[in-house]
Amino acid sequence: MTTLGIIGAGNIGSQVARIAVEAGDNVVIANSRGPETLEALIAELGPTARAATALEAADNL
Ligand SMILES: NC(=O)c1ccc[n+]([C@@H]2O[C@H](COP(=O)([O-])OP(=O)(O)OC[C@H]3O[C@@H](n4cnc5c(N)ncnc54)[C@H](OP(=O)(O)O)[C@@H]3O)[C@@H](O)[C@H]2O)c1
Repeated sequence: MTTLGIIGAGNIGSQVARIAVEAGDNVVIANSRGPETLEALIAELGPTARAATALEAADNL
């Protein structure tokens, strides 16, 4: 399964994440404030998405 790393979880990043999850991909998504601030988005996206630091998202870890 493809894992997509997304840096930026605003208008564009969150929407790209929704589309990727819908398409069956894993998502690792980051913002500037830290993974703990993305709880609501991750809850919405479901188990194939997780929040990370920007470095982790860049590495697709
Ligand atoms: N929306 C549009 O129609 C549109 C059109 C053309 C171009 N763009 C460009 O596309 C980009 C994204 O637009 P957007 O509307 O999605 O912006 P947005 O809603 O403001 O979201 C930006 C996201 O990037 C994150 N971010 C900023 N600096 C970061 C850093 N150093 N490390 C990690 N994350 C960082 C922000 O984190 P925080 O949430 O923690 O602040 C936020 O999640 C912008 O550069 C914008 O100028 C947007």
